[in-house]
Amino acid sequence: MIVVGLMSGTSADGVDAAVVDIRGTGHRLAIKLLGHYGHSYSPRLRQHILHVAERGTVAEVCHLNAWLGEVFAKAVQTAMTRNRVSPKQVKLIGSHGQTVHHLPVPKTESGVGRIRSTLQIGDPAVIAERTGIMTVSDFRARDLAVGGEGAPLVPYAHFLVFRQKTATRWVVNLGGIANVTVIPRGERLASVQAFDTGPCNMLLDALVTLGTNGRTTIDRGGRFAQRGHVHSGLLRWLLGHPYLHRPPPKSTGRELFGESYVKKVLVQARQRHLSLNDLLATGCQFIAHTIRDAQQWMAQMPADVVFGGGGVRNIRLWSELLKIFDPIPVRRMDDCGSSSQAFESQAFAVLAYQTIQGVCANVPRVTGARHPVILGSVTPGTSGTSKKWVL
Ligand SMILES: Nc1ncnc2c1ncn2[C@@H]1O[C@H](COP(=O)(O)OP(=O)(O)O)[C@@H](O)[C@H]1O
Ligand SMILES: [Mg+2]
Repeated sequence: MIVVGLMSGTSADGVDAAVVDIRGTGHRLAIKLLGHYGHSYSPRLRQHILHVAERGTVAEVCHLNAWLGEVFAKAVQTAMTRNRVSPKQVKLIGSHGQTVHHLPVPKTESGVGRIRSTLQIGDPAVIAERTGIMTVSDFRARDLAVGGEGAPLVPYAHFLVFRQKTATRWVVNLGGIANVTVIPRGERLASVQAFDTGPCNMLLDALVTLGTNGRTTIDRGGRFAQRGHVHSGLLRWLLGHPYLHRPPPKSTGRELFGESYVKKVLVQARQRHLSLNDLLATGCQFIAHTIRDAQQWMAQMPADVVFGGGGVRNIRLWSELLKIFDPIPVRRMDDCGSSSQAFESQAFAVLAYQTIQGVCANVPRVTGARHPVILGSVTPGTSGTSKKWVL
């Protein structure tokens, strides 16, 4: 089955669309990436997403839901055209959606008990209507409904693609937030552990944006950070954040590491008279520490660590990771037959495939869910497999 997976992460840099050939049943799938298209958001859309995620009104959330639906549909169409796949060949779309709020820590409400919630937008009805293709969306909700955090969900795909019989491996995504998946040797899904380690590109992007008055929104290649020096006092302060010391299961986002966090970081930096370069260099070493610190909750160190996500293109961050994991080898997904940029979108193609196969794809040990569940909500398309949905 050819499936298109869509991922728009917390960095809000754009949407990735992966065209994936998936075969097989259960947890033994043959997954082949046929092609990828990364659509970068316009500065206006990116700014709007960041605004909505911090303090959007209900009207703004409502509007953005439909707007992103159109943007996602166009990304699917471009991905199909560029990779010479026709809409008839694509049987399914899996769309994670744009997270605008994620509240995994339960709040107790009288009469109903503990409530956790999350909100990913980008209307699947628009995607299914524009493309004619059945669309699976809202993957996190069902896991939350059984007491899980709803995230991270990509570790399931990490397991399918990167597991090894004889060696323990860590797979790390350097997205807006960084998350680690620990795949112990022996290839057992039930023994996989994973959690969000803390902020990653989200912090670096915000610092460079504020530090350059919006002229630069990404420290491309880590050029600013390369010229800076790590400040040990600020590093200690950054490493003191309570989230970093909470044991897993845990997941996070802009609610903890968004605008107000970055403002506090800047106050600390000003008190220490740090330049933007020093601040970014310290940020890179901080991120490397938070990832390496995952070890405190793991029984054993890995034989190797595989990295994906936009952060692999930051040379300073990469050199900090090499240093902190030495002598454990670190590799980019691109160097092990996969794709750093496409992997997360590819994962949502896999998760959508499992939804319609009726296979549970949350990992309860990872999310804290009470039991495995079939993830996602299904929006019928207008042709092909969707006819089966007419009862
Ligand atoms: N050439 C680059 N140099 C440095 N950082 C980059 C580069 N390209 C992308 N990034 C970083 O990666 C981020 C996007 O990574 P991505 O994996 O898409 O994260 P998310 O899943 O949160 O959207 C950008 O916001 C930026 O911080
Ligand atoms: Mg992205």
